[in-house]
Amino acid sequence: MIKVTENIQLKEILITDSATLFKLMKEIYPLAYSHFWTDKGSWYLNSQYSKEHILKELSEQKANYYFILFKDEIVGNFRFVWDENLAGLSEEKQVKLHRIYLHPKTQGNGTGKKLLSWLSNKAIKKGYKIIWLDAMDAQPQAFQFYKKLGYHYYSHIFLPFNLLHEEVRKMSQLYKKL
Ligand SMILES: CC(C)(COP(=O)(O)OP(=O)(O)OC[C@H]1O[C@@H](n2cnc3c(N)ncnc32)[C@H](O)[C@@H]1OP(=O)(O)O)[C@@H](O)C(=O)NCCC(=O)NCCS
Repeated sequence: MIKVTENIQLKEILITDSATLFKLMKEIYPLAYSHFWTDKGSWYLNSQYSKEHILKELSEQKANYYFILFKDEIVGNFRFVWDENLAGLSEEKQVKLHRIYLHPKTQGNGTGKKLLSWLSNKAIKKGYKIIWLDAMDAQPQAFQFYKKLGYHYYSHIFLPFNLLHEEVRKMSQLYKKL
């Protein structure tokens, strides 16, 4: 268990936790993103949090995957990948923030900010120069959050998924120099 602050802890996700992670994300993901999808996000959720996919993500040596705990209760997930580089960005040492999802009951109380600050400090200590991530433009909560924390636009793509509504397909790459 990693102590981030008095109230926030990170608990490493293990192979045996796949059902718990799926159940958690089945609750959290649709609250933020179901309106993006014609099927309310079922396909995406089932593909990203299937047992096979979770095991694949857990087997990646350069990744860290955690449950976020607030006051000892699991309230989200947090995953980042060391040395995954943003195409075209020249700095050598980069870490990608892959997932950060908090339950609405713990949103807006500084938890996200503290976790990213914890990751920045960790990355700086390891000699990394850049944190970057993908964010959906049509999710203002996440976009404003990253902007507030000093992340900048780098590039964007349009996701090709058929089940995703046309007007929300834009996904931007945002980055911050450490
Ligand atoms: C996006 C998310 C990780 C942010 O974490 P959070 O704990 O809710 O955000 P914080 O309370 O740490 O906010 C940090 C700063 O961002 C700002 N911010 C957060 N949400 C905001 C919003 N909806 N609009 C404007 N600013 C916002 C806060 O005002 C705060 O600024 P301050 O420090 O000056 O007060 C979290 O809300 C979440 O998990 N959302 C749903 C899932 C999601 O979209 N994840 C991101 C996938 S890319």
